[in-house]
Amino acid sequence: MLEGKKIILGVTGGIAAYKTVILARLLVKAGAEVQVIMTPNAKEFITPLTMSTITSKPVISEFFTANTGEWHSHVDLGVWADAMVIAPATASTIAKLANGVADNMLVTTYLSSKSPVFIAPAMDLDMMRHPTTIHNLEMLKSYGNHIIEPTSGELASHLVGKGRMEEPENIFNVLSDFFETTSQLEGKKVLITAGPTVESIDPVRFISNHSSGKMGYAIAEECALRGAEVTLVSGPVSLSMTNSNVNLVKVNTACEMYAKVMGHTDESDLVVLCAAVADYRAEQISERKIKRDATDTLTIKLVENPDIAKAVGEKKHSGQVVVGFALETDNEEEHAREKLAKKNLDMIVLNSLNDKGAGFKTDTNKVTILERGGAVHNYECKSKRLVAKDIIDVVVNNHFAK
Ligand code: C5P
Repeated sequence: MLEGKKIILGVTGGIAAYKTVILARLLVKAGAEVQVIMTPNAKEFITPLTMSTITSKPVISEFFTANTGEWHSHVDLGVWADAMVIAPATASTIAKLANGVADNMLVTTYLSSKSPVFIAPAMDLDMMRHPTTIHNLEMLKSYGNHIIEPTSGELASHLVGKGRMEEPENIFNVLSDFFETTSQLEGKKVLITAGPTVESIDPVRFISNHSSGKMGYAIAEECALRGAEVTLVSGPVSLSMTNSNVNLVKVNTACEMYAKVMGHTDESDLVVLCAAVADYRAEQISERKIKRDATDTLTIKLVENPDIAKAVGEKKHSGQVVVGFALETDNEEEHAREKLAKKNLDMIVLNSLNDKGAGFKTDTNKVTILERGGAVHNYECKSKRLVAKDIIDVVVNNHFAK
């Protein structure tokens, strides 16, 4: 998995730096190209010569080479790398990373980095549990960095507690798993629908539903993370999509969503229909605001919208996988199975409004996945991000395993 991968290995001034020598060796042995960047304090713990000998590359530590004046470009390094690992990461470096204090080559390169970043903290237990460190690590996590949690045990101070840098073999495994996951959907095109549709009645009123789009957006993120090229056709939601591997196509009505989906379905390897599409729309959209009149009832004639999932299922080509959703309130599994068959789906993700934490607007969901072949997978209530992971795990394992 790491063959040919370009890794920046950042080393900071903590005693755990001696373990980073082993990590560098493991990475090189696995075929990775490793560029070590050491902070000035790291050189007090291990020598640049140790690292440059293991990686067959001069270690970078300063912005300039003193005798030649050669400038080391942190920008080029940031673009060059497939991943950046900072191990050990001291409290000081963590604070600098969190706040952009770019006073050394390592933090400057971090700020220029376009690749995923893995941070393996190592420090004494009181530093580790100080609110400042906890806050800084939370900040780094919220920016999308991967924190490789330290373990508990005897520390350099001889105190016992949390703060030992994770073992080099385990850091190596985290990286290796990451590259495996991110290649699972490489070269695949994924089409996803999300959110509600909005069907106007007059210039002011519309028919819609409570869908927030959170589930569909989480699935789009998950597929992009696994290397897919994603098209996300979304009804109006208040979410944003920042992942550059996701092409966001915004629509309002079911008919608009149908047209966009039909334009992309043939080229797609995986189609996930997560949107809560309005089944009906007003036959006539009134040009003027409908006024209350003398009668105590108002009749608006509704006509059926296209069933997007059914249309995708009918066009399904060999090798293409189509996943639908079913939000049910009664006889859940039976209704979901009927939809699976009627719409020619490969999988249907069932959530019930009877389950606490499932369905609309929440950040969590509780789902059951029903497969065409009859298999049933039940899951606990969990965040929609983790539900997305479960769904895509089933798709990858059953249809796209390499
Ligand atoms: O609304 P229903 O329960 O039939 O939805 C089941 C599945 O069909 C969902 O995946 C939903 O996104 C999809 N669907 C659709 N177009 C519709 C109605 C539903 O794509 N008009």
